Amino acid sequence: MKEVVKLRNGEKILIRHVIESDIDGIWNNFNEVVDEKIYLPVLFPVRSKFEKQSWFHNIQKEREICIVAIHPTMASPYNILGQCEVSNLEWDAATHVGSLGIIVQKKFRDLGIGFHIIEMAIRESKNVNHKEKIILSCFSDNKRAIHLYKKMGFKIVGRREKQFYMDSRYYNEVLMELWIDDYLNMNP
Ligand SMILES: CC(C)(COP(=O)(O)OP(=O)(O)OC[C@H]1O[C@@H](n2cnc3c(N)ncnc32)[C@H](O)[C@@H]1OP(=O)(O)O)[C@@H](O)C(=O)NCCC(=O)NCCS
Repeated sequence: MKEVVKLRNGEKILIRHVIESDIDGIWNNFNEVVDEKIYLPVLFPVRSKFEKQSWFHNIQKEREICIVAIHPTMASPYNILGQCEVSNLEWDAATHVGSLGIIVQKKFRDLGIGFHIIEMAIRESKNVNHKEKIILSCFSDNKRAIHLYKKMGFKIVGRREKQFYMDSRYYNEVLMELWIDDYLNMNP
């Protein structure tokens, strides 16, 4: 599945499934967010080529969903504006559930990319991978992410107090979930 979408600034971008040549851009985006130190419970960037390649090969092997937003004219790896991944859970008895993670490059936030890549990831999780429910977790003070998740129909189903400790402060974790058929009924 591929789609051209128009952003809030008028620019058109492509969204599609990940391919191998996207790997560097995806990990650059991930490492940038790790450096921001306020969105992810991760302390160290990923630099190892082996780890980056293994991530991609695992996605292929497990048939997991990773949707990327591509700038039409920027050069690789900076053309990967954002990514949304829906991974399998580790439990044999939870193959109907996917776990969502998303990152958009700092310069390209608030333009609608997050909305478009989550939208495609939800639909493809059902079409390709037969998922029924998508879960995610988020820091409780990540107002932009929580706004977007709620707008797309995710419901808060739990909260863990002081679940993470980074840079001398605690973060609460909010747990959210979405039933894909509810989403598709609301957004045919
Ligand atoms: C969260 C993230 C993925 C969203 O992607 P995005 O492309 O910026 O999202 P969109 O532009 O589609 O939507 C952002 C929405 O948040 C709103 N928003 C921005 N700042 C906000 C704030 N402080 N409080 C509430 N809403 C806010 C925007 O107005 C927009 O809503 P609208 O479309 O109803 O006007 C992206 O900002 C990001 O990568 N953030 C850093 C990493 C991160 O937080 N990842 C998720 C970890 S759980």
